[in-house]
Amino acid sequence: MRISIIGCGYVGLVTGGCLAAIGHRVTCMDSDGERIRALMAGHIPIYEPHLDEIVLAARSAEHIEFTSDLPKTVEQSEAIFICVGTPPLENGEADLSALDAVARVIAAEARGLKLVIEKSTVPVRTGEQLRRALEVYGPASGAVFQVVSNPEFLREGSSVSDFLHPDRIVVGVDQPSAAAKMREIYQPILERNFVCPVHDGACPPAAQPQFVVTSINSAELIKHASNSFLALKISYANQLADLCEELGADVEEVTRAMGMDPRIGPQFLRAGIGFGGFCFPKDIQAFYRLAERAGVEFMLLKEAERINKARIDHFLEKARRALWVLKSKQVGVLGLTFKPHTDDTRFAPALEIVRRLLAEGASVRAYDPQAMRKTQVVYPTVKYCEDPYDVAAGADALLLLTEWPEFRDLDWQRIHGQMVRPLVLDGRNLLDPHRMRQLGFEYHSIGRPG
Ligand code: UDX
Repeated sequence: MRISIIGCGYVGLVTGGCLAAIGHRVTCMDSDGERIRALMAGHIPIYEPHLDEIVLAARSAEHIEFTSDLPKTVEQSEAIFICVGTPPLENGEADLSALDAVARVIAAEARGLKLVIEKSTVPVRTGEQLRRALEVYGPASGAVFQVVSNPEFLREGSSVSDFLHPDRIVVGVDQPSAAAKMREIYQPILERNFVCPVHDGACPPAAQPQFVVTSINSAELIKHASNSFLALKISYANQLADLCEELGADVEEVTRAMGMDPRIGPQFLRAGIGFGGFCFPKDIQAFYRLAERAGVEFMLLKEAERINKARIDHFLEKARRALWVLKSKQVGVLGLTFKPHTDDTRFAPALEIVRRLLAEGASVRAYDPQAMRKTQVVYPTVKYCEDPYDVAAGADALLLLTEWPEFRDLDWQRIHGQMVRPLVLDGRNLLDPHRMRQLGFEYHSIGRPG
């Protein structure tokens, strides 16, 4: 099928690259000409495991092309995935202006039957507005539109694998023929009959993905409801961690046993310095506003957000308790991204901690495998180091803020030798407390005794 992707951000590029990898002809369009020029030159502007391989392979096979020409893109495609940004407005609601602008061009330029698929995260009832915009601005074109909501459940750092091996593909439609076309697009993934570029064809066994057909409103709600529930789970684990600290229990032991109950499940119960990234913080706010507008006060969401914001204060308080005064102390920071395997620092708890350390007069040295160039622009006074050992040199404390697996495997004895004071505050419970204490560290983590 001839498919186009409007918006070449994380979601758009992963969607375009993966759809090309399973055999479709894909045109990726973005209004940012510089981004398109970079993509045409074979440069993938974001770090995401396997994304460059699949996009470059599709480019060599001429299965994918890049353009800034929206009208032409609309004209030549049967299915149009809208993947433009929906960033938060000041009041927490999603800014839908980019979606509206794209809809008006599609309306004016389309000919024949077009499947218009909203992939961007949007509030419920956006599909209705989208259809209205297509109808209002497109009467002259004579095109016929089928609107579909197809929310994504991609995690940064594993989004290519998530796209190709999903648990479920949700399509919200109002006509059975639109669902049939969506099934056709996803057929290779549903039947698992493509050569997986992530696992070289040797993918781990997984259950066949569910193809879930719902109304458009339900599909839109599923996305927000899922993300918000995961955020609630994390805040629950974090509040539990505070309680464990007071009562001398170990949150890792508690959540591990809780997660063995299939009704609870083991995932998203990791306590730490809280959730960040461009999805959870914005989605939970947007969902709250949406409920409020509908006359439902969804206080659970507000509380999850409050608990999350308090994680930073709680962690800095730990640092102050250990270091007494932060001013003029040399603090090493390991990890700047909101989670490992990404270069994304948007709403990263680590960055907020760095900001507060600097504001209190600490001098900060930092290392992150992917995000130092980006962070340098925002915090030029931080000393960005070659490696974690350099961060530790002369430090009064080391703060572990993103659980990059390589931090677990460092030569911690060597780090001990580099520090002025061997104090480690582990904001992600990555390290083994017994081992760290055996090595002579003063070690503090989240919700674990000691
Ligand atoms: C999320 C959703 O998982 C995905 O389905 C959706 O499409 C986009 O938003 P993402 O933001 O990439 O994905 O990251 P995710 O892995 O969900 O983690 C979000 C944040 O929660 C990170 O800051 C992570 O460190 C934190 N987290 C996650 C915890 O603090 N504890 C956990 O147990 C899990």
